[in-house]
Amino acid sequence: MKKVKIAGREVFPIGLGTLKMGDKSNKFDQEIKAIQMGLDNGVQVIDTAEMYGDGNSEHLIAQAIKPYLYNREDLFLISKVLPSNASKKQLPISLDHSLIRLNVDYLDLYLLHWQGSIPLQETVEALEKAKNQGKIKAWGVSNLDTDDIEKILTFPEGANCAANQVRYNLADRGIEYDLIPVMSKQEIPVIAYAPVDRCDSSGTGLTKQNVLKEIAETHQADIFQILLAWCIRNGETIAIPQSSNPAHVFNNVKAAEIQLTQQDLEQIDTIFPKPVTKQPLALW
Ligand SMILES: NC(=O)c1ccc[n+]([C@@H]2O[C@H](COP(=O)([O-])OP(=O)(O)OC[C@H]3O[C@@H](n4cnc5c(N)ncnc54)[C@H](OP(=O)(O)O)[C@@H]3O)[C@@H](O)[C@H]2O)c1
Repeated sequence: MKKVKIAGREVFPIGLGTLKMGDKSNKFDQEIKAIQMGLDNGVQVIDTAEMYGDGNSEHLIAQAIKPYLYNREDLFLISKVLPSNASKKQLPISLDHSLIRLNVDYLDLYLLHWQGSIPLQETVEALEKAKNQGKIKAWGVSNLDTDDIEKILTFPEGANCAANQVRYNLADRGIEYDLIPVMSKQEIPVIAYAPVDRCDSSGTGLTKQNVLKEIAETHQADIFQILLAWCIRNGETIAIPQSSNPAHVFNNVKAAEIQLTQQDLEQIDTIFPKPVTKQPLALW
């Protein structure tokens, strides 16, 4: 299992997404158990955002990571600021609200959720200020394509960009063409969202693919685990599948133990080829 270097740490390559969690009170117990199942089996990264359930996801995470249960230093908490709040004036307010909802005094990583109308340089300055105040350990971005990452790298503190969170799974390999090479050169890891393609909700049929089924059988795994093992295969990507089901979370975490062979990877490439031209960045 390859840990991933991010923001001066080395973390477990599977994290927990929480996009749709914390919205329904009758699901709280199960969702808290799902998060704790991940943490009890090695997960460190938890991904949330002020946008998720308008703060509900951050509230739920606070319940799952109570200080008497987990050491804050073992966790790697990520939250995100909405583009409309990413100004010098508003970002510190959004950040404080996220810290209060999460009941922590710092974030490990704070991301610009996507680019809006506020200039990137202003947001980067606000993020650097928050970092200097100790409210975040590092900052990064989400849903930015190659040209914007290159732009950020020209800013005075742009090289401090610690991650880009983008959609990445076998059905969305476009970022391998130019975004990953640029990020890799700067040692900026990918945080892969929708790594199991939202359980086929976009209609790609990934989780029913025969070649993946055969590969899964040889590893005594299921297809979801193969999708995740593929995402994290190079040690430069953290996958953040979301699941409210503790048994699914357990399986997802165990995917970190699967080492795909060269033959597996070649077989996968024949069905889901690497991009050979620039692709529009896959979103949402
Ligand atoms: N930065 C951004 O703009 C952005 C955008 C989207 C998402 N994200 C982040 O990325 C996270 C993950 O993305 P996502 O939630 O869109 O998609 P995803 O993780 O690819 O898919 C989540 C779906 O897959 C199911 N699932 C997960 N593991 C499974 C397993 N082992 N077996 C069966 N079903 C399984 C879940 O259902 P069950 O609950 O039934 O397991 C859920 O319906 C989000 O939660 C969020 O934190 C970020």
